[in-house]
Amino acid sequence: MASRMLFKRSLLQASVLRNSIRHASSNVAAYNGKKNANGKYTVTMIEGDGIGVEISQAVKDIYAAAGVPIEWEPVDVTPIIKDGRTAIPDVAIESINRNLVALKGPLATPVGKGHVSLNLTLRRTFNLFANVRPCKSIEGCATAYDNVDTVLIRENTEGEYSGIEHVVVPGVVQSIKLITRPACERVIRYAFQYAQSIGKTRVLVVHKASIMKMSDGLFLKTAQDIAKEFPDIKLESEILDNTCLRMVTDPEPYKPVVMVMPNLYGDILSDMCSGLIGGLGLTPSGNMGDKVSIFEAVHGSAPDIAGKGLANPTALLLSSMMMLRHMKLNEYADKIESAILATLASGPANITRDLKGTASTKHYTEQVISRL
Ligand SMILES: NC(=O)c1ccc[n+]([C@@H]2O[C@H](COP(=O)([O-])OP(=O)(O)OC[C@H]3O[C@@H](n4cnc5c(N)ncnc54)[C@H](O)[C@@H]3O)[C@@H](O)[C@H]2O)c1
Repeated sequence: MASRMLFKRSLLQASVLRNSIRHASSNVAAYNGKKNANGKYTVTMIEGDGIGVEISQAVKDIYAAAGVPIEWEPVDVTPIIKDGRTAIPDVAIESINRNLVALKGPLATPVGKGHVSLNLTLRRTFNLFANVRPCKSIEGCATAYDNVDTVLIRENTEGEYSGIEHVVVPGVVQSIKLITRPACERVIRYAFQYAQSIGKTRVLVVHKASIMKMSDGLFLKTAQDIAKEFPDIKLESEILDNTCLRMVTDPEPYKPVVMVMPNLYGDILSDMCSGLIGGLGLTPSGNMGDKVSIFEAVHGSAPDIAGKGLANPTALLLSSMMMLRHMKLNEYADKIESAILATLASGPANITRDLKGTASTKHYTEQVISRL
């Protein structure tokens, strides 16, 4: 009897190990796109609303000047109602599924009426499970800190944003924070692989398992299990409020770290990190899925300056650098990124008003092109 149990246990252990090895060797969210008949990669472009048109044009102009082997496929994501629900038009879905990668400008969301957030719809439609937000201090954009270099990965599909809410009795509502092991595994494994790919040596789980012992406890326990697949990366954990306090006191200790956390914490903490480097106008982001990935600027459509030629395209440009690296077009990303950073460091005449400069979108774009 005992030997049969031992045998069963070892079979189970072997199967766990086999799974671990399979997962460790297969990259989550890898890009598998192929060149088209013109020898270029086709990328879906969602220009977006408001300043979206202007900042997308800046990206297109700079890519053309840098000779990036990409052809843009513009799509309109103006929502349609399908079976009573907000949906992305089929043409846009087919384009993104075909090209496996998209660059997205900001999309306006009506407040209190109309369609649900298209950003949310895109995440759900393509199961974009991880939101990646690197924040690095930029020369020429002074803030209280000049040593920020953080990477935050947010679980993008569940947690507090599962949308499961109901009225228990009038005056009492309940909102359910859903955490599942498969969703935790996916985003945490991605965080480890991302850390390896950018040469960071630690993964930091940010949580509140001290209070939410079951939900955040599952996230943390899953991280401890996944960490066994990555012996060269150290797993650490920290309580969310402690992370906030320590990071605004001194961001330096977070340099060798990739942070990973449930949805709501990631939403808030990622904006805090953006604040440390000068705001959303400088922050790139990528939404990673099993099959497709969408890279986007995290700022909104800026209706107050739309059409005036004042928009800062840096966030969309830096997001597209993440996209190029995801597509393994690193040499183009390095070349364009150097030109962007040199332009931002070159003084107020060449940077836009949101960064306390005087340049128009067009002038800034020309300056980047002249530094390629
Ligand atoms: N990811 C997205 O698509 C996204 C994100 C946030 C807001 N939105 C939507 O955008 C619309 C406007 O939202 P909001 O006004 O709250 O936020 P916003 O980010 O559009 O604007 C806030 C302030 O920042 C400025 N700003 C933002 N991006 C800029 C840029 N690239 N260059 C120069 N200045 C810039 C604006 O002029 C404005 O003064 C809303 O419909 C909202 O739903 C979309």
